[in-house]
Amino acid sequence: MGKNLLIGKKGIIFGVVDENSLAWSVAQKCIDEGAEIVLTNTKNAILLGNINDLAKKINTPIIECDATNLDDIQNLFEQSINLLGGKIDFILHSIAMSQNLRRRKEYDNINYKYFEQTIDISALSLHKILQVAKKNNFINTYGSIVTLSYIASSKYVCGYNDMSAAKAILESIVQNFGAIYAQSHKVRINTISQSPVFTRAGGSFSGFKYFYDFTEHMAPLGNANAEDCANLCVMLFSDYTRKLTMQKFYNDGGYSQTSMSENFIDYFRDNSLSRFNE
Ligand SMILES: NC(=O)c1ccc[n+]([C@@H]2O[C@H](COP(=O)([O-])OP(=O)(O)OC[C@H]3O[C@@H](n4cnc5c(N)ncnc54)[C@H](O)[C@@H]3O)[C@@H](O)[C@H]2O)c1
Repeated sequence: MGKNLLIGKKGIIFGVVDENSLAWSVAQKCIDEGAEIVLTNTKNAILLGNINDLAKKINTPIIECDATNLDDIQNLFEQSINLLGGKIDFILHSIAMSQNLRRRKEYDNINYKYFEQTIDISALSLHKILQVAKKNNFINTYGSIVTLSYIASSKYVCGYNDMSAAKAILESIVQNFGAIYAQSHKVRINTISQSPVFTRAGGSFSGFKYFYDFTEHMAPLGNANAEDCANLCVMLFSDYTRKLTMQKFYNDGGYSQTSMSENFIDYFRDNSLSRFNE
């Protein structure tokens, strides 16, 4: 049972492809909290994923949109406003894709066409959505946009490849567009730097499961899961956070602030992983 935090609010959720998608947890939580939403994804994702079944479960429309295409974005906003009966109050940008990761291209042997595509899909798509929204005044005053990032934007994570650069650009867009949109329309833009969660995009880099295990033990509170991510999104969409903008929130159980934790030492010792074990 929700707490009616989003009653009367209208939102667009990018990025549901299946029940493991972070966006799916967010979509369900938004409905629980009283919002009306549309789901959107690419033609391929709609064909190959199970968005249709999921949308039926929460009784929401799906609108096709490739978030790298300005015409698609314009159409998405116009149709959403029409279907929902008013301007948009919140947007979840939950989009990432790297062919270099998918095809196991190493960072020092990268395909540059794929690299450009990674940046376009995983970072510039946010800029494009914001630019279309601002030009057409599609978002209500104190509207809230949230995008999902990862710690690899600022610290090396082996295997994360060109997605690290995409996340760094994504966070830069949050800051720069955040300042501009706040001053012109009082629209807020924030990012959540999320713990690892097993999803299509999340699990696509090699070594992911070991990193998941590592941060689970290192983070004083353990990893934040999809529901934790959804709860934080709802808070950021709600009126309780009207003066928060241009921020990066680490939703990671304290991992980003920890160099060593008791839990990890126990794990290391109990599994005889140290050469100092007796
Ligand atoms: N899962 C994790 O461990 C984790 C951790 C931190 C951040 N994130 C971020 O969360 C976000 C969501 O990823 P996820 O883990 O839920 O995986 P996911 O695979 O479920 O979601 C990625 C989505 O991006 C969509 N997408 C790809 N190209 C698109 C395009 N051109 N236009 C519109 N949509 C497009 C896909 O169809 C898919 O729905 C991503 O930005 C990801 O980097 C994930």
